[in-house]
Amino acid sequence: MAEAKYIWLNGTIVPWADARVHVYSPAVKYGVGVFEGIRGYFNPRMNEMFVFRLEEHLRRLAYSMRVMRFDDPPGHEVLRGAVLETLRANDFREGVHIRLSVYLDGDGEQGATGPVSTVCLALPRPNSKAVENGVTAGVVSWRRPEDSAMPMRVKAHANYHNGRLATLEAKANGHGAAIILSSHGKVAEGPGMCLFLIRDGQAITPSVTSDILESITRDAVIRLLRDELGVPVAERDVDRTELYAADEAFFAGTAWEVTPVTAIDRLVLGDGKPGAITRRLQDLFFAIAHGDSNAHAAWRTALSASARAAA
Ligand SMILES: Cc1ncc(COP(=O)(O)O)c(C=O)c1O
Repeated sequence: MAEAKYIWLNGTIVPWADARVHVYSPAVKYGVGVFEGIRGYFNPRMNEMFVFRLEEHLRRLAYSMRVMRFDDPPGHEVLRGAVLETLRANDFREGVHIRLSVYLDGDGEQGATGPVSTVCLALPRPNSKAVENGVTAGVVSWRRPEDSAMPMRVKAHANYHNGRLATLEAKANGHGAAIILSSHGKVAEGPGMCLFLIRDGQAITPSVTSDILESITRDAVIRLLRDELGVPVAERDVDRTELYAADEAFFAGTAWEVTPVTAIDRLVLGDGKPGAITRRLQDLFFAIAHGDSNAHAAWRTALSASARAAA
């Protein structure tokens, strides 16, 4: 199993094997927890680790904790410190995926709101083949729960049960990834990523009221498409049959970065290869994330610079 040396647990750096949670905690019994998946991009030329859009992730985590009505939620600076201290303790020299979770410890029942525990870990994440070659995708029969049932806008552990079922079905049907419809039959998103279509030079993506997570990568991609690449973006309801009219498509998310989609429901998009706009977007996105481009400097938190600021 992949592991890192150290994990940040409630303010202390502990060895990987020592970060434990009790089987009777609400976290285990009911999946009561919220989290963020965050990327650290290592730039070997600069010998620097850049955390991508850390402030936005911390703001979304604060929102998730608020909706969950947690007692004494950890503050912005504690959570920011957890991420940076985890990276420093492990001294990674490659790209990482960071997982920052706040969950309910203790022995409470369904209505418990505390005690709260916070954990942060990071693992190396090598470059993905799917980002290079693209993936196939298929629409699954599972629907996203609607906001009034189990809000997808809240990044809660238990929400991922829906995405897991969707992934299992997509794989069983021979697809690389799932596309999930909303309870209204419109396209929502993938199990851990948003979906964009390119049609006649325009980008189209489901709106934030389509029972999706308000994705931070989605926001970055919309801004890069509009402002840097001159591609108009429509955020609106998307019908399933529009998927089949797309010239290109891609998934966007922290884990999926910008991953081309080459076929949907076995209908090949374009020439079956990652599309031209998708490729231009990837080049821009990765240059910014790695600090090889000076654009959007506010999206990057440099680990060594943050150490100097704290000293
Ligand atoms: C369901 C879902 N949609 C979209 C995303 C993408 O969000 P972000 O770009 O903030 O990582 C995620 C998480 O990565 C997710 O879990």
